[in-house]
Amino acid sequence: MRIDVVTIFPAFFDVLEVSLLGRARGSGILDVRVHDLRDHTHDRHRTVDDTPYGGGAGMVMKPEPWGEVLDAIASDDGASDDPVIIFPSPAGERFTQATARELSGERHLVFGCGRYEGIDERVFSYAAGLGRVRLVSLGDYVLNGGEVAAMAMIEAVGRLVPGVVGNPLSLVEESHEDGLLEYPSYTKPASWRGLDVPDVLLSGHHGRVGEWRHAQQVERTRTRRPDLLPD
Ligand code: ADE
Repeated sequence: MRIDVVTIFPAFFDVLEVSLLGRARGSGILDVRVHDLRDHTHDRHRTVDDTPYGGGAGMVMKPEPWGEVLDAIASDDGASDDPVIIFPSPAGERFTQATARELSGERHLVFGCGRYEGIDERVFSYAAGLGRVRLVSLGDYVLNGGEVAAMAMIEAVGRLVPGVVGNPLSLVEESHEDGLLEYPSYTKPASWRGLDVPDVLLSGHHGRVGEWRHAQQVERTRTRRPDLLPD
């Protein structure tokens, strides 16, 4: 999968070098390229923002550098001709595990990270001529910009790309994959600081272990996330 990221803070994405995603990049499964939006400015101050038409607080990201960088990505060799162009935004559709699954089947994702009060709205219209534009929100809270949200989405999507996680079975029994929260896990020792592993897990009885885990999933979901359960 090819992933392009546009940002004014490329250093945010240095952490993609480490851990599972770093290995996937090294092996060529993920081809991640980070672009500094300021490289597409032409003034001495490398200006990417300006005051909003109509007045109001804050600054808005100017369209010209965005147009240039999106054109550069679209005309790059190896880029697909119909990428999904994602702008992380608190005003977007909600990002869920289903979104991550859907995006993990794409060949090319572009993340456009906005800062300040947002990006000139015409950038989204222009980008719609280059790919399938989606504004996507991590949740109902506001971050300073799209970088942290893009990182979270890249990790959630990247780990679902075949070959990134060594044992694909470990992706199946996770929170949100079956609409329920994950069951609790334990490892050795069986007793630690007076706290014991539930007996059923030591029983060797697969059927009973399965039933217990499912009951735990339902109970956790009911207490922590009742919104996930059908009415
Ligand atoms: N940018 C700022 N806040 C955000 C959020 N909650 N989700 C995605 N992008 C954002």
